[in-house]
Amino acid sequence: MTGEKDLEALLAAMHPVQRGGEYVYAVWPEGRPLVPGVEAAVREAEGLTVVLPRAVADREGLGYDFVGAWITLEVHSALEAVGLTAAVSKALAEARISCNVLAGFHHDHLLVPVADAPRALEVLAGLSAGSRQVPRPELLVRSEAPEDRAAILALTADAFAVSPATGLKAEGEPVEVRVLRGLFESKEYLPEFSLVAVLDGEVVGHVISTRGWVGDHGLLGLGPLAVTPRHQRHGVGSALMKETIHRANAAGESGIALMGSPEYYSRFGFVPATSLGVLPPDEACGDYFQLLPLALWPGGVHGTFRYAEPFALT
Ligand SMILES: CC(C)(COP(=O)(O)OP(=O)(O)OC[C@H]1O[C@@H](n2cnc3c(N)ncnc32)[C@H](O)[C@@H]1OP(=O)(O)O)[C@@H](O)C(=O)NCCC(=O)NCCS
Repeated sequence: MTGEKDLEALLAAMHPVQRGGEYVYAVWPEGRPLVPGVEAAVREAEGLTVVLPRAVADREGLGYDFVGAWITLEVHSALEAVGLTAAVSKALAEARISCNVLAGFHHDHLLVPVADAPRALEVLAGLSAGSRQVPRPELLVRSEAPEDRAAILALTADAFAVSPATGLKAEGEPVEVRVLRGLFESKEYLPEFSLVAVLDGEVVGHVISTRGWVGDHGLLGLGPLAVTPRHQRHGVGSALMKETIHRANAAGESGIALMGSPEYYSRFGFVPATSLGVLPPDEACGDYFQLLPLALWPGGVHGTFRYAEPFALT
């Protein structure tokens, strides 16, 4: 066996590459011949686990829960290399990305949740760059500080310069900026739920959640969420959402309501609020009005959601 064994050298040379498509874990039906497309298999006493493209699993009628992206660590690691998968798993765990590791003869492979793949690639690139002693900016998510306000309002204006709802260019200051100013001054403002994402000292994203209600039951109303356009689609929005959800659970909140694209927010567990008996402030919102029930979601909360007062501007 040749192959690199020194951990720092392995990490420095590691080149993570994502395969196309989505992959799932499934249990292969006993006795059925394997079909082309199965990428990995593990025999256990309980049966044969296979990893295969989601489309093949669907075609074969196999059930699955986890839908992953496949990342190959393109470095020729010796199978006895110590610590590579541990270092990679640790870095991903710190970024709160779950990962399943498969070792092939030539390479190690990671299966991470599809939604986390871009961020996982960034984390891995950062890990590799760190081993080459190249400093790489890390994304920091923290509570806003008073000196962040100007940057927050500016990036929100940039992010909403074209309305995500209508696709039209905003005339003058986007309404989201006016709402945000109002929220900062409102009695429903919750300082620990106004979060900024900072990259290399620059505020590149912001999200705010303020107090809202169904009847007299308090929930969080999330929004606006905005990321500086040139930093979009690099995991900043996801990092802000995940930290909000983490803090909300830690604070004993019971749910988070928001208006937005189900395609984006469903990845964090949001569902149409009406499915939980919570109605949008405006009926026309339909399934765009979503709710994330948290650990302490009590059930039995039925009625129309009321946002913090500044949302009346919208
Ligand atoms: C929406 C927004 C906050 C997302 O933040 P982001 O940092 O760009 O998003 P992430 O990198 O965390 O996105 C992760 C995934 O969501 C997808 N995504 C991003 N924006 C999306 C959108 N508007 N609709 C659907 N999917 C979206 C990305 O493609 C990525 O998917 P992938 O993992 O399958 O590639 C950001 O794009 C933004 O500020 N947009 C303009 C303002 C806005 O629309 N705010 C939200 C109003 S509800």
